[in-house]
Amino acid sequence: MNKNLTAVPHALSASDRKAHYGHCGAVLWLTGLSASGKSSLAMALELALTKLGYSCYVLDGDNVRKGLNANLGFSAIDRTENIRRVGETAALFADAGLICITAFISPYREDRARARDAIGPMFHEIHIAADLATCEARDPKGLYKKAHAGELLEFTGVSAPYEVPEHPELALDTSHEPITTSLQKLISYVTRHIPLGEPSPS
Ligand code: ADX
Repeated sequence: MNKNLTAVPHALSASDRKAHYGHCGAVLWLTGLSASGKSSLAMALELALTKLGYSCYVLDGDNVRKGLNANLGFSAIDRTENIRRVGETAALFADAGLICITAFISPYREDRARARDAIGPMFHEIHIAADLATCEARDPKGLYKKAHAGELLEFTGVSAPYEVPEHPELALDTSHEPITTSLQKLISYVTRHIPLGEPSPS
């Protein structure tokens, strides 16, 4: 890091932001194989939490790779940089006081640990734990098929690794339960760990 930088303090504190939004900032870090249900759950959770009064935003792998991370591919080095940037961005969202829901495969434990370090206690790792056979059978974008045919290289679960979280804050078995059940578990996790208070009148 450049030595000639000096952090500029904000005029608003974390508790000012909490009073404004009516809840603490947080990052709900969804990790799992392609087609495990991360994006569907993230978008459904964003909608459900917003209806309850939370302020949230989803960072999704396919979306972020069209903009901020458009220069990155799927080598181990590029995935590490993808997750580093997303971890730092999610940390800014949480610092701003929002609930940031991230939906990235994020296959490497070390990369997820770095995101946890960047975000601190506001980080919640959520394993979307569909098994590979289920994800391959779903294959909504036809990517597993392409990977098996050798048309898509370094595909997670086929020709690139996925390192299962060892101690996630929450694991949801989306192979064996309906998405509505997983969503309910996520909502109750959030309302228990990031309770809503009264936002300050503006
Ligand atoms: S990550 O591994 O770097 O975390 P990320 O979540 O951003 O991946 O992007 C995954 C999305 O990119 C998948 O949903 C899929 O649509 C697409 N994709 C394209 N190529 C690959 C690949 N080789 N491995 C995994 N996903 C891929």
